[in-house]
Amino acid sequence: MTSIQVKPLTESGFFAEITGADLGRHGDDAQFEAIKSAHLAHGVIVIRDQRLSPEQQIAFSRRFGPLAIHVLEDQLLEGHPEILLVSNKTKDGRYVGLPDAGRFWHTDQSYEERPALGSILYALEIPEDGSGDTWFCDMTAAYEALPPATKARLDGLRGMHIYNHAHENFSLNDDQATRLPGYDHPIVRTHPETDRKALYLGGKLLKYIVGLEEAESGTLLDELYAHCEDDAFIHRHQWRQGDMVFWDNRCTMHFAQPYDDKRFTRHMHRTTVMGDRPV
Ligand code: OGA
Ligand code: MN
Repeated sequence: MTSIQVKPLTESGFFAEITGADLGRHGDDAQFEAIKSAHLAHGVIVIRDQRLSPEQQIAFSRRFGPLAIHVLEDQLLEGHPEILLVSNKTKDGRYVGLPDAGRFWHTDQSYEERPALGSILYALEIPEDGSGDTWFCDMTAAYEALPPATKARLDGLRGMHIYNHAHENFSLNDDQATRLPGYDHPIVRTHPETDRKALYLGGKLLKYIVGLEEAESGTLLDELYAHCEDDAFIHRHQWRQGDMVFWDNRCTMHFAQPYDDKRFTRHMHRTTVMGDRPV
């Protein structure tokens, strides 16, 4: 018997809070099964009050599938390349990780052939003033709320995703950029485990809709983002130290909010579970 509790934090059931879990017990099958079904049912889960070593986070994450190694090799944890540092800490005058991960709506690794199934972000240090939230959007609900004519229009359309934007402090080097030419994926994808359809957008990384005139593609994408911006689909997560947030990239988008990184430290460990090719 596992003693974990799952409590949705929105009326729609999107985004649930899990208490009473200890992810360090990664051999606990009942706990794992309960977390896995909560993840599928709620799209995003926050597992509270964790104290995990990198090895424990990696072992827990691996139960969901093989882990991806992020292309930004200078931002990985030394000795544990499965962990991407989302952090504004510095060492020898340079950032140890990625201080500005995803400051726009996006879904992780959408520019790869097999984008991330899910990302697992563990908060070791958070800003003392409570800033630096992450916003999440329920893309299943957003899709289902579209007018039938829009759903029909989106049927069969594909979007081109490319990772070529500059971060605040650095850009991809030439070799990294060459390894990532970009990929096109359906604008509406079917979740391989729940069979539900969801919008699949990528913010700045989704450059255009294949086969449409530039202006038409831009207008349609703007319309879709405006539709998703509705509070009915969004949950704003305010971090607590020890939170482990696990989002399903196949049916959600997320958006990192800025914070005062001159005054505060925000330090997180991210693991990334590899997914399927979207269909
Ligand atoms: C990420 C990401 C959000 C945040 O790690 O993929 O988008 O709030 N992070 O740091
Ligand atoms: Mn992200």
